[in-house]
Amino acid sequence: MDTAPDILKVSILGHDSIHCGFHLIPYIAHTVLATLPASVYALITDTNVAPFYLSAFEQAFTAEINKLSSAKPRFLTRVITPGETVKSREGKADIEDFLLLERCTRDTVILALGGGVIGDLVGFVAATFMRGVRFVQIPTTLLAMVDSSVGGKTAIDTPAGKNLIGAFWQPEYVFIDAAFLETLPEREFSNGMAEVVKTAAIWDENEFTSLENNAPLIYTAIRTPSTGYAGRHIATRSTSQSLLLSVIRGSIYVKAHIVTIDERETGLRNLVNFGHTIGHAIEAVLTPQMLHGECVSIGMILEAEVARGMGILKQVAVGRLVRALRAYGLPVSLGDQRVTRCPGARSLGVDRLLDIMRIDKKNSGPQKKVVILSRIGATYEQKATGIADAVIAKVLSEAVKVEVDLSVDASLGKQHVKMATPGSKSISNRALVLAALAQGTCRLKNLLHSDDTQVMMVALQELKGASFAWEDGGETLVVSGGSGALQVPEAGKEIYLGNAGTAARFLTTVCTLVSAPDTSTTTVITGNARMKQRPIGPLVDALRANGSDIAYNESEGCLPLSIAPKGLQGGVIRLAASVSSQYVSSILLCAPYAREAVTLELVGGAVISQPYIDMTITMMRTFGVHVTRDPGTDVYHIPQGVYVNPPEYAIESDASSATYPLAIAAITGTTCTLENIGSESLQGDARFAVDVLKRMGCEVVQTASETTVTGPKRGGLKAIGEVDMEPMTDAFLTACALAAVAQGGEGNVTRIVGIANQRVKECNRIRAMIDQLAKFGVQTKELDDGLEVYGRPFNTLTRGASVHCYDDHRVAMAFSVLGTVVPDTIIEEKRCVEKTWPNWWDDLENKIGLKVGGVELPRAESSTAASPGTPFSPPTASASVIIIGMRGSGKTHVGMLASAELSRPFIDADAYFESKHKIGVREFVHVNGWPAFRDAETDVLKEILKEAGSGHVISMGGGVVEIPEAREMLKTYAKTGPVVHVLRDIKEIVTYLGEENARPAYGEPVVEVYKRREPWFAECANYDFINNPDLAGGEATNAEVSRFFRHITGQPNLAQNVAAGKRSYFLSLTYPDVTPALRHIPDLTTGVDAVELRVDLLRAPDHDALSAIPPRAYVTAQVAALRRATSLPIVFTVRTIAQGGAFPDNAEKDAFELLGLALRLAVEYVDVEICESERLITDLASRKGFSQIVASWHDWSGKMKWNDDVVSSKYAIASRLGDIVKIVGKANALQDNFALYDFVAKASAQPGAKPIIAINMGVEGQMSRILNATLSPVTHPLLPSKAAPGQLSFTQIQKALNLLGQLPARRYFLFGNPIAHSMSPTLHNTGFEVLGLPHTYELLETTDVGEHIKAALAAPDFGGASVTIPFKLDVIPLLDKLSPAAEAIGAVNTIIPVVEGGNRILYGDNTDWVGIRESIRSRAPSIGAPAAALVIGAGGTARAAIFALQSMGAQRIYIFNRTASKAQALVDAFPDAPVKLIKTLDAWPAEGPAPTVIVSTVPASATTVSGAGTGAVLLPLALFDAAANGVVVDMAYRPAETPLLGLAKRAAPSWATVMGVEVLLEQGYVQFETWTGRRCPKHVVSKTVLEKYFATA
Ligand SMILES: NC(=O)c1ccc[n+]([C@@H]2O[C@H](COP(=O)([O-])OP(=O)(O)OC[C@H]3O[C@@H](n4cnc5c(N)ncnc54)[C@H](O)[C@@H]3O)[C@@H](O)[C@H]2O)c1
Ligand SMILES: [Zn+2]
Repeated sequence: MDTAPDILKVSILGHDSIHCGFHLIPYIAHTVLATLPASVYALITDTNVAPFYLSAFEQAFTAEINKLSSAKPRFLTRVITPGETVKSREGKADIEDFLLLERCTRDTVILALGGGVIGDLVGFVAATFMRGVRFVQIPTTLLAMVDSSVGGKTAIDTPAGKNLIGAFWQPEYVFIDAAFLETLPEREFSNGMAEVVKTAAIWDENEFTSLENNAPLIYTAIRTPSTGYAGRHIATRSTSQSLLLSVIRGSIYVKAHIVTIDERETGLRNLVNFGHTIGHAIEAVLTPQMLHGECVSIGMILEAEVARGMGILKQVAVGRLVRALRAYGLPVSLGDQRVTRCPGARSLGVDRLLDIMRIDKKNSGPQKKVVILSRIGATYEQKATGIADAVIAKVLSEAVKVEVDLSVDASLGKQHVKMATPGSKSISNRALVLAALAQGTCRLKNLLHSDDTQVMMVALQELKGASFAWEDGGETLVVSGGSGALQVPEAGKEIYLGNAGTAARFLTTVCTLVSAPDTSTTTVITGNARMKQRPIGPLVDALRANGSDIAYNESEGCLPLSIAPKGLQGGVIRLAASVSSQYVSSILLCAPYAREAVTLELVGGAVISQPYIDMTITMMRTFGVHVTRDPGTDVYHIPQGVYVNPPEYAIESDASSATYPLAIAAITGTTCTLENIGSESLQGDARFAVDVLKRMGCEVVQTASETTVTGPKRGGLKAIGEVDMEPMTDAFLTACALAAVAQGGEGNVTRIVGIANQRVKECNRIRAMIDQLAKFGVQTKELDDGLEVYGRPFNTLTRGASVHCYDDHRVAMAFSVLGTVVPDTIIEEKRCVEKTWPNWWDDLENKIGLKVGGVELPRAESSTAASPGTPFSPPTASASVIIIGMRGSGKTHVGMLASAELSRPFIDADAYFESKHKIGVREFVHVNGWPAFRDAETDVLKEILKEAGSGHVISMGGGVVEIPEAREMLKTYAKTGPVVHVLRDIKEIVTYLGEENARPAYGEPVVEVYKRREPWFAECANYDFINNPDLAGGEATNAEVSRFFRHITGQPNLAQNVAAGKRSYFLSLTYPDVTPALRHIPDLTTGVDAVELRVDLLRAPDHDALSAIPPRAYVTAQVAALRRATSLPIVFTVRTIAQGGAFPDNAEKDAFELLGLALRLAVEYVDVEICESERLITDLASRKGFSQIVASWHDWSGKMKWNDDVVSSKYAIASRLGDIVKIVGKANALQDNFALYDFVAKASAQPGAKPIIAINMGVEGQMSRILNATLSPVTHPLLPSKAAPGQLSFTQIQKALNLLGQLPARRYFLFGNPIAHSMSPTLHNTGFEVLGLPHTYELLETTDVGEHIKAALAAPDFGGASVTIPFKLDVIPLLDKLSPAAEAIGAVNTIIPVVEGGNRILYGDNTDWVGIRESIRSRAPSIGAPAAALVIGAGGTARAAIFALQSMGAQRIYIFNRTASKAQALVDAFPDAPVKLIKTLDAWPAEGPAPTVIVSTVPASATTVSGAGTGAVLLPLALFDAAANGVVVDMAYRPAETPLLGLAKRAAPSWATVMGVEVLLEQGYVQFETWTGRRCPKHVVSKTVLEKYFATA
């Protein structure tokens, strides 16, 4: 080692044994060898740490050992598995055996290199090995550095609990090398910061202040690699490195100090357990998903709230603690998503937590001990304080109840409350800037403590513009102003503003005031990612125009900014002020310090929020600068000058908050005086006392800066008729609460108007008040811009209402006012007040004198009632389908196809319009104008809905959504019926519309119309149909139209085989973009029942690299593209990272938006993770229509046990929320699969059990994938990656099932004669092979239906048979039962063995007709129900043809046969069918239509197109209506081109032709499916069969 590194030492128990620095490895080796002579040095570390540092240690120790001249000691290393599980007896034994094997003796030195796990375990080994050997701690996690390595506690875990066996054993040294933190995962770093913040909080306010202000800088230290050993010496140490080291050292110092005074843990040492009493209880429930520090972080806040509730700790301190912990990425409440997603989260009940706390080591007797903070940096006692359960319970519970005793008259005691409410945010921010820029000292009182004010203070300090100090435990801020002299912050230090918007705007101008001789070093202000998107452009433009030098460092118009220290020029400044009044205030506040007096001209449209500009000007006057405004203009003159600090400035209370205590006085008949808010208030809501409370009968006394309200005797509030609350909209909720009990006037009504904007606040507040007041029995009426409340005597209101707050602070506080006169009122979400008044409930108790109790709401699990939100409303299958969309989007085309598919009449609203008005749409507009047309169109909508509200398909005109009334009608309709928005790319629409002019021209560019209408279409519709020819595969396929419209009308395309006793599968598509794979989809999906689209894995080609959230449009296009390639049901999955996917964990809203999109796209299955908010899930489920919800739970930890309560509780939740349950664990051993199997067997045996997907991840879990029955996820060798480890392919699973005896091989036959050339064996055997099925299909050629056939049918492995000529009738006597089709046709071509009532029976079916029908349908779906069809021939096949046509709804079926008598027999056989005999093939009876479907069932040789006299049927040209789109099927098997098909190709090219072999294939697919329960892999089978067919032609 060249020179000794610079080391900071901390003393513990009288020794300087803790050494801190950077890059210490050589130093460690040197020090250890020089001062701890030994025969063996054994270093223990784990597999995470070893790759980074082990070789450096080996080198350093070898080098030092080589220097020794005496006997060379050995240097041993041992690398063990990481993680808490090695901290066990076995883990300890393993190390001991290693040491023994290596013949280590008492003079060994053991080195523990790693986190707390290694330190605790290795320390304990050292404590007992050979009755104790020397050891050295080399902690590599922050937690280990500041906590576990200091103090000498060592331990291991046992199944009975953590750290139960151990010893105190002090290390010889603790080497803290902060450079190790550069490789530590950031979550682990945060974990350690929780302890650091904790230590500062109990002990050292200065240290705490440094922590709360410097998070970004501290992160810089661990995020910047210190290459070249930077930091080893002070000379190379960066500012951030020095800070990091000082923070670590500071924290260690406190712990070392406490340990030294109290080594064996009596009282004082308990102080370091701040946050741990509640934190440990939380950890016990949430481990291992949540880390210790994360739980302690939440514990600290809850324990601080205990202190606050006791009236000991101020909210200021709680707020600082919250912000400091958040700054290090730590959770601060049980509502944090990281917590709520944990499997255990739902069992974080109050009782459970209190129960766990009961066994805390700190307790003495039954009382729980909590470290009570008295302020930041100090505790209430020098030890933990005993606290009653009820106090803790109140903090932990999520709901509250104001305790009221109506028998006591509150006003009797003439209670007079005097208090201040939290400071106004706007005024606080302005006051900070003014006081800092002023000369002299100012004491700011009632400052709001928020993120905004916090970063503002830090920034002003960094600019050396002012200094700050706290007095009165943080109640008063002493500002020593800098008279406007500011400096560029020190090199490399950026001013970080987080997401504090006001601070960013005010400080931009403040930074231009900085003036320095060297203008090349600039001031940089920056913020978090969100801040970097918020606009600052107009302000920068104005300042640049004025001569300031401001550069955008990243994107134009946003932070970060580089501002040159040139001072502010002044003179005329022009500013666009229509976006934010904060730009104006920013310039006003700084203007006095410009080089010239400033004239500020506001330009560019209406100025926004004038009251805030006035507020700034008024406050500037208080600080000595008088702004003047040219009357009637937006021009302001600001003189030059320096602000002068008043000795004290009391920040006004927030006026909206002030309404609550005043209203409580009003409703209870007591008196309340609010300080810091009076008649001179700068805020509109301050008028509430005079404009509302006085009118209601209160006595109101208002001075300039104080307001006192005394209420009438309880029950005496007066209803006041109309009140316009436009100037104080936020106060309307408070007014509603009072109006509920206000009487008198006309009908006890209070009509609150002028508050329409409150519909779009945190929630729709008008609705919220109406719905929640109803729970009290209070009636209301909604108005356009407000509501009427009908007051009732307070003692008649319903008691015990449970108020839902929509997470809106104002709803909660308003109803707590009502709760003071209505006993047992529960406010469900107490924490929502934190937004503006975090200690409201404590103030209610401690300052207003009402008792507030905690209430535990029934847990979601136990309550049967679903959460609030829309009830499940089953959609109506018969409701008409309404189609809307842009003109040119393909509404009519899609609508007609849908109508054919659904066999429902089609109504085109345009055509309806024309027939009603006897004039075309275009002409109507021309004559009457657009407005008249719109009215007429609305009427048309009304009429159609009335007359054709069910059983139709209706296409609406594109302009219908222009009319608000029509939009409302559509939206209402969409609640129970399908409204489909047909979407098509705008470019396509423009091209298409350019080509037609049948309808009125828009009179404006189509694109404009599109932009305006698309949002309306989207809002009116509940489904989206994508009709985009741009997509791969072109225009929406008929198959997709069929699937989509069937789905939304109650015939969903759900997966086959999801039924008891069957096995179903889905294929996971793991592509970032599915389009390149579409051509492989038929191969990929062979055998499966559905495909899963892993939406979280999708990545748009031009995607934002930072965002893992695929855009909505991209997802839509992907689903649409997939639909072109397959009609299989889609499982739409957005898997989060926590659940093993790639979707961000904190983007719940985005995830649900995509899931909602899936429902709009009529996706069949939507996978929802049950750890998401239940409210969102039930809301989604309420919109699911005919789609199904897969409620899924994944536990990747490997700790979930299938026989554990956790799984049962997850199962219960998932069964309640989903149609299909999915639970995924991880197998560590084969046995885990048996446990799973047991669980599934038990669960499925319950009556009404939902289908369950239950799987274990990992290779050990493969067996569960084989045995799982419902929708087993499978992969395919062609996929880019497996969706999950251990996944198998469909074929693999079939083979495995066969080997396990779960899929026995079966034999299938063809009965007939002659059959040697049959294609059926090729057909079926190819199918079996492709699917991996072990079956075989053989020919059984016999002369009659005799013993051979009987033996085949009787064999136990008989799987089924095809029957062909001549046995289709002869076989019938051997069968037990016939299908209706076989019965009607009088022939059997398929035999299926089925189990009925426990017996095997033989079932005869006929699939010939299905083959005919499918051949026709798949080639010309638009034919629908043909008006006329023709069958040539009269044999058995003709019977199948007639049956097929009848099933298609053919309106006429012509029969032609040479022997008319045979034909007549046929007619008689189908008495219900519209069958007509015809005599010639070129004229149709009774002027009937020409057939569009022709099926010939006679041999090819029996037809001819040329010669007469052969005895063959002559096929005339006139047979085909060449203008139609028809289908002709020739059942003749050979030749491929029969005379009939040849004629069709020549005479009617628009007709589709079907060869006999193609019909054979179609009926074969059906057979295959009935036998195996699997779709036949048609593409491979047909290719193989046709190749063979043509090869042998
Ligand atoms: N003895 C005490 O007084 C005391 C105090 C607090 C906690 N503990 C104990 O400490 C343990 C927790 O310690 P921890 O939080 O350090 O966990 P840990 O030891 O499990 O380390 C966390 C993770 O980080 C990895 N890691 C460690 N250093 C790394 C580095 N520099 N780079 C990359 N990866 C690194 C580890 O392999 C591990 O996966 C618990 O067992 C707890 O009981 C003991
Ligand atoms: Zn701890």
